Order: sequence, then structure tokens, then C-alpha cells
Amino acid sequence: MSTVKEQLIENLIKKDKTSQRKITIVGVGAVGMACAICILMKDLTDELALIDVAEDRLKGEMMDLQHGSLFFHTPKIVSGKDYSVSANSKIIIITAGVRQKVGETRLALVQRNVDIMKSVIPALARHSPDCKMLIVSNPVDILTYVVWKLSGLPVTSVIGSGCNLDSARFRYLIGDKLGVHPTSCHGWIIGEHGDSSVPLWSGVNVAGVVLKSLDPQLGTDSEQDNWKNIHQQVVQGGYEVLRLKGYTSWAIGLSVTDLVGSMVKNLSRVHSVSTMAKGFYGIQEEIFLSIPCILSQNGISDIVKLNLSSEEEALFKKSADTLWNIQKDLVF
Ligand SMILES: *[C@@H]1O[C@H](CO)[C@@H](O)[C@H](O)[C@H]1NC(C)=O
Ligand SMILES: *[C@@H]1O[C@H](CO)[C@@H](O)[C@H](O)[C@H]1NC(C)=O
Repeated sequence: MSTVKEQLIENLIKKDKTSQRKITIVGVGAVGMACAICILMKDLTDELALIDVAEDRLKGEMMDLQHGSLFFHTPKIVSGKDYSVSANSKIIIITAGVRQKVGETRLALVQRNVDIMKSVIPALARHSPDCKMLIVSNPVDILTYVVWKLSGLPVTSVIGSGCNLDSARFRYLIGDKLGVHPTSCHGWIIGEHGDSSVPLWSGVNVAGVVLKSLDPQLGTDSEQDNWKNIHQQVVQGGYEVLRLKGYTSWAIGLSVTDLVGSMVKNLSRVHSVSTMAKGFYGIQEEIFLSIPCILSQNGISDIVKLNLSSEEEALFKKSADTLWNIQKDLVF
């Protein structure tokens, strides 16, 4: 007696089961799942794999997404505690790690999350030797360095989500102040994703009109309109959301998906992401910081050379020193 499937379907070709655009997300907390839903809704993958150590939660999240299959076009969603489920990924997104506690700085998390990276990265790299790794866990700049070291991947393949979100917050706030959509407000945040991030006021513009040319004091203490406050809101915004809802998820999920889109679609768009900053702006140590990078299917293919003002360069150097002071004592 043949099955209903056999009666209904005549199989003509042996299906090629190899995914071309597989994405793995490590960590199914609020951030990982925000990334998952955004990636699915944007049709960026043909196979999504989820990995976590919390097995019930993992299976629940996988099933919940699978039940939504009618509404997106990703035919395969899998999950597992075993790293083999990630095999052959093109992109692996790392959101695993302990989360910031209210009032805790991102940097204070560091050793706990380094230990977690030690337990996950080598196996992931073994199963997907050609992948790009996108690090979201905090403190993201230091962990991106750690993942680069642990993975053995080329430096262009290990990318920290870094200041892509800070820059998005910056542009939202500039837009809000001007009554112009954020896509038309251009501005960049570089350096550490965190307290020492650097706003590039010298480049903030709408339609090529540099705001600093309208008010040379823009972004400084001696200016009336309080633009400097916008950068404080960028830095404090994450902490404020953390205090109010316990975690951040939607904006980081969207901004990570934006990075994934640039890679999957080989768009060569420029993003402020964390990359090896040694050799730039007088930095001599092997540290990762956000600078504007061109992202394509090969990962970070190029870096845009900024013409920083002397104040901006000093702040960038300070951001680097802050990170190095912590990174130099890490054990892994
Ligand atoms: C990806 O983009 C780069 C830069 O634009 C281009 O040289 C390359 O041919 C593209 N690759 C594919 C497969 O289209
Ligand atoms: C870089 O910026 C400085 C001012 O900060 C300016 O004097 C110089 O001409 C700029 N150089 C380039 C190549 O744009």
C-alpha cells in the first residue's frame, strides 16, 4: 500500500539538499529571536538554524517559527544543542552570552562572555569553515576580537555589529529633531559600541548640507540648541530600554538584519561595524572598533578612510585605550 505522498507526488529528480544561504543564530534569547524574525520576514535565507543550551526554550522557539512557515519563504528551520546543526552556514550570528544587568556596563560583562565564546566558537568554525561570523553579544568589540582569535577565520570574515545600531539611533534622533526621515539624515558613530563611542559631528549632513557648516559649535558644550545631548541619548538609550523593558531587542534585531542583507545580497553598503582597527588613526594594538566598512558577500572587503578632526581622532584614541585596558588582561 503506497502512502498518500507517494500517490500524490511523482518524484522526478533527486533533490539537492545543500543550502546556499544558510544562516545560524546562536542564542535564542530576545536578541537572537528578533534577528530571526527580521531575517525571515526579509527572505534573507533558505535555511535557518538555531542553537542554544536551553533545550526546551530552543525547541519552543523553533516550533513557534515553523508554525509561521505559511507566512514566509524559508523552507527549512532547524534547531539543536549540537553544533552540527549549523554545518555549512554562510553566516553565523552570535547572540549567546549573559546579558547586561541593570546598571552594569557592557565592559563589565567581559570575562563571563569570553568563557562562553571559548565553549562555542571553535566547534562552529569547524562545521562552517567558510562562514562569516557576526558578533552581537556584549561587550561586542572585545568579543569580536576574541571570536576572531578562537575561530581562526580571516579577519575580514569576523564582524562585530558594533556601532551600526548606535549610528541608527543617532540618525533617528537627528531626524526626530529636524522632522526629516532618518534615511535622509546622515551621521556616523564610530569607536566602542558603548560609553566611549564617538559621534562624527563634522560629517552630519542632510542632502549634503553639513550641519556643522551652519553652526560651527554643533555638538560642543558651547552650542545653544543642545545637539550634544543627542549623542548622550545614543549612549544612554540602550541603558534606558534595558531599565524599562529588561532587555533590548527590536532595534538590534533590525540593525543586525541590515548587516546580513548587505552580505547575503553582496550590496557593498557601508556600515559602522567593529573590525580590526590596528593601523588606523594611530592605533597600535590589535583591537576591534567600529569604523565605516564596506560589507559584501566576502565580509568586510574595504574600509572607508575618514578625515577625522583632531577632537574626533583624540576621542577615537580614547575609545581604543578604554578597550585595550580591559582586553590586555583577558585570559582565554
Ligand atoms: C560581489 O560584489 C563585488 C563588488 O561589487 C563584485 O566584484 C563581485 O563580482 C560580486 N559577486 C557576485 C557573485 O556577484
Ligand atoms: C581634512 O579635514 C581638515 C579639517 O579638519 C581639512 O583642513 C583638510 O583639508 C581635510 N582633508 C581632506 C583630504 O579632506
